[in-house]
Amino acid sequence: MASVRLLCLFNGRAAGWSKTLARTGCRNVCSSPSRLQSMSAWVIDQYGSSGVLRHTEEIPIPTVNFAHDVMINVSAASLNPLDLNMRGGYGATLLNLRRDPLSLVNSFSEFPLILGRDLSGVVVDCGSGVTHFAPGDEVWAAIPPWKQGSLAEYVTLTEYEVSYKPESLSHIEAASIPYVANTALSALVNAGGLCRENSFNKRVLITGASGGVGTFSIQLLKAWGAHVTVTCSQNAEGLVRGLGADEVVDYTAGDVAEKLDMMERFDVILDNVGEDTEEWAMRLLKPWSGAKYVTLVSPLLLNTDSMGLLDGSLHAGLTLHNKAFQNITSSGVFYRWAFYAPDGPTLDEVSRLVDAGKILPVVEAQFPFSQVPQAFQKLEQGHARGKTVVEVAEDDEYMEAAESEQKVQETLQQN
Ligand SMILES: NC(=O)c1ccc[n+]([C@@H]2O[C@H](COP(=O)([O-])OP(=O)(O)OC[C@H]3O[C@@H](n4cnc5c(N)ncnc54)[C@H](OP(=O)(O)O)[C@@H]3O)[C@@H](O)[C@H]2O)c1
Repeated sequence: MASVRLLCLFNGRAAGWSKTLARTGCRNVCSSPSRLQSMSAWVIDQYGSSGVLRHTEEIPIPTVNFAHDVMINVSAASLNPLDLNMRGGYGATLLNLRRDPLSLVNSFSEFPLILGRDLSGVVVDCGSGVTHFAPGDEVWAAIPPWKQGSLAEYVTLTEYEVSYKPESLSHIEAASIPYVANTALSALVNAGGLCRENSFNKRVLITGASGGVGTFSIQLLKAWGAHVTVTCSQNAEGLVRGLGADEVVDYTAGDVAEKLDMMERFDVILDNVGEDTEEWAMRLLKPWSGAKYVTLVSPLLLNTDSMGLLDGSLHAGLTLHNKAFQNITSSGVFYRWAFYAPDGPTLDEVSRLVDAGKILPVVEAQFPFSQVPQAFQKLEQGHARGKTVVEVAEDDEYMEAAESEQKVQETLQQN
């Protein structure tokens, strides 16, 4: 299993970088007086494709405003398919309502919007009610989708969303885990009914197992003693077997449903693929035994985006109800949608598993902060094998180089 860690394909330039940003552990977090009020971040000012990403030094620092706030100097962030989707406007209707409940009646703009849902970094300031963390603590977190993200120097979260980073991991490695861990645990525990105590010898099928959620889920389930079958491309077999998968089915070679049909039935299916999966996968579950089909690919946010809040929620609710009703009455199988739920205490448990060597980070690619657009391009290519990570705290020289490159590009476009 240790070889998985070697998946870290370190960008040669990034590997030699020194971290020059000040980490003072007090309120004066900025390295120069001129930047006391603002920070470096990648933002979008409108929804769209790769061209909408913009680097700026002018984003107000998210200071501690409430008693339970924790302000974090971000060392590393990672990207998820959600970042690509949010860049294109996915979920904006529902998320804006959460950002500002009056957004339906008042004029409200979410821009400039910062993407990035994972972070690993260092606490620099805490509200008066924070008891669990102090400046200087190394922490990790998954950020709720309605909050400003981690492609920035600083993020402020509530202490309930933050957890101590595993001591055995670097910030780069740690940043690859929180979002997929919170997602996998929400899906497997809350929707799938699994936990450390009841998973021994349970048969679990994971579709799309070679990406971020899948590579984490395999390891978690193996740590809990489950029997894990996965679907992935042939060239990901070594990776998923290295992480502990018991049975591997190559979905690119022949009829995947037919191959899975020949196996013993499953207690839980975690679907990371969506599309037509549920049409052939429901019959793979043990009938009338409390078996559960949990999909992470649901139409809820797409519905609210396209039909509006009320119609979209009603439509999604009806779809879920109909599918759940049909499956429970015809074969006694539970049909569920799952969503990622940022949760610090859950990450505490994951941190223990990581430090015990039961869960390894799977970092496929690493980019410096100056190359966030390139990191998004990598994500857009698909075929993830674990996670794409961005080193946020980096040498200022590279940011200056990136800014001058951006200015040249803007000048060229204007002429
Ligand atoms: N509801 C939520 O809150 C939530 C949270 C997290 C993620 N998600 C969703 O869950 C899905 C998985 O997330 P992720 O972060 O793990 O994505 P990811 O990192 O992009 O991984 C997806 C993996 O699936 C593989 N794949 C694609 N088509 C497949 C197929 N037909 N059969 C088997 N494997 C296939 C891909 O590799 P190859 O193409 O090379 O096979 C890739 O390794 C995404 O759709 C994401 O949007 C939802």
